[in-house]
Amino acid sequence: MRGAAVTGWGAALPETVVTNADLEARLDTTDEWIVERTGIRERRVGGTTSSLATEAAAQALDRAALRPSDIDLLLLATTTPDQAVPATSPEVAHRLGLTCGAMDLNAACSGFVYALVAAAGMVGLGVDRVLVIGAETLSRIVDQDDRTTAVIFADAAGAVVLEAVPGETKLLGYDLGADGSLRSLLYCDHGGFIVMEGQELFRRAVRATVESARAALERAKVTAEEITLFVPHQANLRIIDAAGQRLGLPRERTALVLDRTGNTSAASVPVALADAVDDGRLSPGDLVLLSGFGAGMTWASAVLRWGR
Ligand code: COA
Repeated sequence: MRGAAVTGWGAALPETVVTNADLEARLDTTDEWIVERTGIRERRVGGTTSSLATEAAAQALDRAALRPSDIDLLLLATTTPDQAVPATSPEVAHRLGLTCGAMDLNAACSGFVYALVAAAGMVGLGVDRVLVIGAETLSRIVDQDDRTTAVIFADAAGAVVLEAVPGETKLLGYDLGADGSLRSLLYCDHGGFIVMEGQELFRRAVRATVESARAALERAKVTAEEITLFVPHQANLRIIDAAGQRLGLPRERTALVLDRTGNTSAASVPVALADAVDDGRLSPGDLVLLSGFGAGMTWASAVLRWGR
């Protein structure tokens, strides 16, 4: 029997910090409004999707004690590729010195969890080691004069290595979903900027997170009480709190980086996961619930047993 396990993790944030005070200085907004409505205090901007992805992936390889040549497949979740064509993943692979299969996946903020589930499927098909990355440079598609989006979206990358391991798989259950009738809630036309219907998205986001997380828990045959760490998409602290409350997952068991990163879409779940692991919040055998929602609308949840 062979399963899939996360054996490495990494994160990359651009150097430039944009604080709420910086935004206050040039937009009709206040630190108080941003903190109270979103939970965000600062965010990072800069770099390219491929450069951030490469940095996070290199860290994940280091932690897994692997060389780039050990990797058999690269999956990059992004909604902000460097170019429209080609995909960004071949460039990331090239920077890492890889010529294995590489592809982009766009499921917006759910992208990393989608990619992780897809990677586990590929391990089931016989692939030994997959680099799974979520990377974004959302600052490129945000109108920096639009206070409704400029305070929220930012840039980052996170990555994990998913390896074939003997025994049962560590991906115990998952849920993936999409509803294209909700595409107008959050979109960006070619060459345009992000347009968002904040209030309706908020309502849908809480419901999607709760229902998707419950479906994944049920398929994994575990309860919320058994979850050591909840890693939700870092979009809004009020969304995370509302979903956590309904799921019975309090803040003490939730990974949070939102205050330092803002919403980094496909990067947010792996960045929050890497941060929690680096803080020593996970031990082998612990159960982790990952959950994302985003443009599309899409949603995705997965239950992982930590360790090999
Ligand atoms: N600073 C100050 N005021 C702002 C503001 C800002 N940055 N952005 C909006 N406002 C104003 C609005 O214009 C509105 O003013 P009005 O009452 O005079 O009309 C007021 O604040 C309330 O706006 P509203 O949109 O009702 O606020 P909200 O409590 O819903 O919070 C969001 C707005 C965007 C923070 C919230 O709706 C949200 O997070 N939604 C989900 C977004 C999301 O998760 N997106 C990513 C999905 S992956």
